Amino acid sequence: MKQRLYWLLGCLISTSALGLPPGDVNRHLGVASCASSTCHGSVSAFRDSNVLQNEFATWQSVDKHAQAYQVLLNDRSKRIARNMGLPNAHEADICLDCHADNTPVAMRGEKFDIADGVGCEACHGGAEKYLSSHASGQVSHEDNLAAGLYPTENPQRRAELCLTCHLGTKDQMITHRIMGAGHPRLSFELDTFTWLNPHFEVDEDYVQRKGDLNGARDWAVGQGVAAVTQLETLLDDEAGTDGIFPELVLFDCHACHRSMFGDRWVPRSGTGLGPGIVRYNDASLLMFKHVLTALDAGDGEKLSQQVRDLHVATTKGRAETVQAGRAVLASLRAGVNKVQAAQYDAALLEGVLSSVVADGERGQYRDYANAEQAAMAVDTMILAFENEQVINASRAEDLRAKAEALFEATKDEDNYRQGQFVRALRALKDAAP
Ligand code: HEC
Ligand code: HEC
Ligand code: HEC
Ligand code: HEC
Repeated sequence: MKQRLYWLLGCLISTSALGLPPGDVNRHLGVASCASSTCHGSVSAFRDSNVLQNEFATWQSVDKHAQAYQVLLNDRSKRIARNMGLPNAHEADICLDCHADNTPVAMRGEKFDIADGVGCEACHGGAEKYLSSHASGQVSHEDNLAAGLYPTENPQRRAELCLTCHLGTKDQMITHRIMGAGHPRLSFELDTFTWLNPHFEVDEDYVQRKGDLNGARDWAVGQGVAAVTQLETLLDDEAGTDGIFPELVLFDCHACHRSMFGDRWVPRSGTGLGPGIVRYNDASLLMFKHVLTALDAGDGEKLSQQVRDLHVATTKGRAETVQAGRAVLASLRAGVNKVQAAQYDAALLEGVLSSVVADGERGQYRDYANAEQAAMAVDTMILAFENEQVINASRAEDLRAKAEALFEATKDEDNYRQGQFVRALRALKDAAP
């Protein structure tokens, strides 16, 4: 792997080692170093401790990250490896970078075991310098961060971490060739995925130490960082292209993977594109636009126009695409900081939901990935309304029942119909604040 050679250079420029939390330079001591019963390996939660201390049990029993390496030994992985001409999947860096804590061999401690999959340090950073101090009760969260603990509580940094594996970056790609060999399509949303099987609890002392985790904010920041990460890949001359084609994984899968009845085509608004054109996957751009619109209609309108220009530029040439993409990137980078600092009050949440619904009426959810993300956005907004006490629990239940229809409409990506999705959105809007 040519990419792994960059690791040697990575010692000089801190963020380029692959398969690691961004910026991580410390030794990884292994899950076993965290799992003793007086540390994070308790069977049940500790009552008089800041943290649950049963994180290992949760991770091992319900967190899929604990199985991520084992997956590489199954039949599907064998077929993917065969199709790609790899001797096997479980020793190939291209698979291990995302399915394990693939820190360089020289940086592995004695208890490290690659078969542990995506272990604690794959997210929390190499424990070499914080293992003995972080539980002493003598150090602050800031001290831990300075000793190499990764700031997973910070939404921007958390998104950057998760997306290295759940979207891929220009340096750690999941290419269309890997998809073609049989890998499942990736789909990610920061807030939803953070809370799927949590091994942590946000209680009073957590908020004191680290601040609150706000679901709507994390959703918004996650979309912005995803849009940036994907666009950086498109603009990279190597990662963004494949022979005479662009890298297809960055484009809407169902623009190509659909049957040829010939009577199905309808325009997708917001793209400025006619029939027969492969569309850039703009799902996270579209979601990020919703929050920008709610914060400042002018910023939202500007991003919409820039995204449209980007779509049109893809039909002209690479130079035009790179130029239009850079303009989008500049807006996104400025937007992410604004969105991270925003106050997620009732007005902002309502603004996001109306923008999500309005795009349905405009025909923006023609593409499956956009509808899939819109459904998760609605779900996040309902919980946020409830947390902000904009609606009570029974109204939230009612809205959730209506949101169920959105998930129903996106359950089967090969048979997704925009009409069904937009009808479900309308029903939800009528009941929403
Ligand atoms: C950029 C990161 C990335 C790379 C590279 C990658 N994977 Fe994955 N893979 C993932 C993620 C993330 C998932 C889980 C998707 C989900 O459930 O949302 C996954 C899921 C899978 C699954 C399905 C697992 C299940 O539980 O059903 C298989 C099989 C798989 N990967 C095999 C491979 C093989 C073999 C390779 C190497 C050729 C590889 N992956 C490379 C990130 C990656
Ligand atoms: C896929 C990434 C990931 C993996 C793997 C992971 N964690 Fe976490 N962990 C997180 C996130 C995200 C949070 C919540 C944000 C935060 O508090 O930093 C968290 C929170 C925690 C907390 C709560 C801290 C607090 O301040 O209350 C502890 C303790 C913890 N993890 C320990 C572990 C241990 C031990 C393992 C391995 C058995 C592990 N984690 C594996 C991502 C991960
Ligand atoms: C080193 C790569 C890596 C990192 C970093 C990572 N993940 Fe994963 N994640 C995976 C892989 C691989 C799988 C699939 C494992 C399987 O199917 O057995 C997965 C699965 C998941 C799943 C289960 C999805 C499902 O379909 O049930 C969730 C939820 C998840 N990850 C959330 C996160 C979050 C949140 C973060 C960031 C805090 C994160 N992950 C960071 C590689 C990673
Ligand atoms: C520009 C068109 C295009 C786009 C966009 C595209 N694909 Fe493909 N896909 C192809 C072509 C062409 C093949 C090769 C078919 C062959 O080898 O016979 C293929 C093959 C595949 C295969 C193997 C199918 C099989 O069993 O033969 C999978 C799986 C796949 N793509 C998934 C995806 C996913 C997931 C995405 C979106 C992230 C995507 N594709 C985006 C054109 C595209």
